[in-house]
Amino acid sequence: MGSASASSSEAEDGPGSDPPARMTTVSRHYFGGDSSESDHALRVDIVENIEEDYGMFVWPCSVILAEYVWQQRSRFSSSKVVELGAGTSLPGLVAAKVGADVTLTDIAHNTEVLNNIRQICSLNNANCKVVGLTWGEWDEPVFDLHPDIILGADVLYDSAKFDDLFATVTFLLENSPGAVFITTYHNRSGHHLIEFLMVKWGLKCLKLLDGFSFLPSCKADSLQGNIQLVEIALETEKPK
Ligand SMILES: C[S@@+](CC[C@H](N)C(=O)[O-])C[C@H]1O[C@@H](n2cnc3c(N)ncnc32)[C@H](O)[C@@H]1O
Repeated sequence: MGSASASSSEAEDGPGSDPPARMTTVSRHYFGGDSSESDHALRVDIVENIEEDYGMFVWPCSVILAEYVWQQRSRFSSSKVVELGAGTSLPGLVAAKVGADVTLTDIAHNTEVLNNIRQICSLNNANCKVVGLTWGEWDEPVFDLHPDIILGADVLYDSAKFDDLFATVTFLLENSPGAVFITTYHNRSGHHLIEFLMVKWGLKCLKLLDGFSFLPSCKADSLQGNIQLVEIALETEKPK
């Protein structure tokens, strides 16, 4: 993961004092060159709070998907991108930095995560839209989204949410001819899960990569697990 720079804050808690500030850190993520602090082409700073919920932390799947976006930047540079379950939004921010028109989304009622995304965009001078979008719910903003590329890092972590997630993904793919869904996930069941989801939702797998196969060693050294990247489209459609 990126090098974490301390910008932690904690206020004194006493009578009449302000409520305690939340413990936050800012992690730095480097892309290009040798992806080190001294040799890189892009730096993205992320505000994290590891005491808070899933969406306030940079998960390894996000580091891998962000690196993929960076390496494929010519493909992203003029595309419309929607990130689902964006959390701290590293992949979407890299897409925005290489020229994509980016909408970052997370659970509609989770104002803490959505506000953190806005703060991260401002910190990085990234002009992204931030929209509350809960999977499987059909609030107005979802109908206005016509992405070329849908991103999702570590959004396949709770099987109880797969149907809602794929209902949204399939809707967006149908609403956006030629679009693809690119997601990174922890592979805990061979490729059965992806095969099952493809059949169930009328989708096809265009690309399946070991997430570590394209990760620079300086990033791979600090990550663990079997993380796969899969690119998905509607069964009936050719990608752009
Ligand atoms: C494991 S975290 C991954 C966060 C980020 N993509 C990353 O990899 O660092 C899962 C994310 O999905 C979001 N999420 C969970 N359930 C959701 C739902 N029903 N609708 C939309 N987002 C959801 C969470 O708020 C969280 O940001």
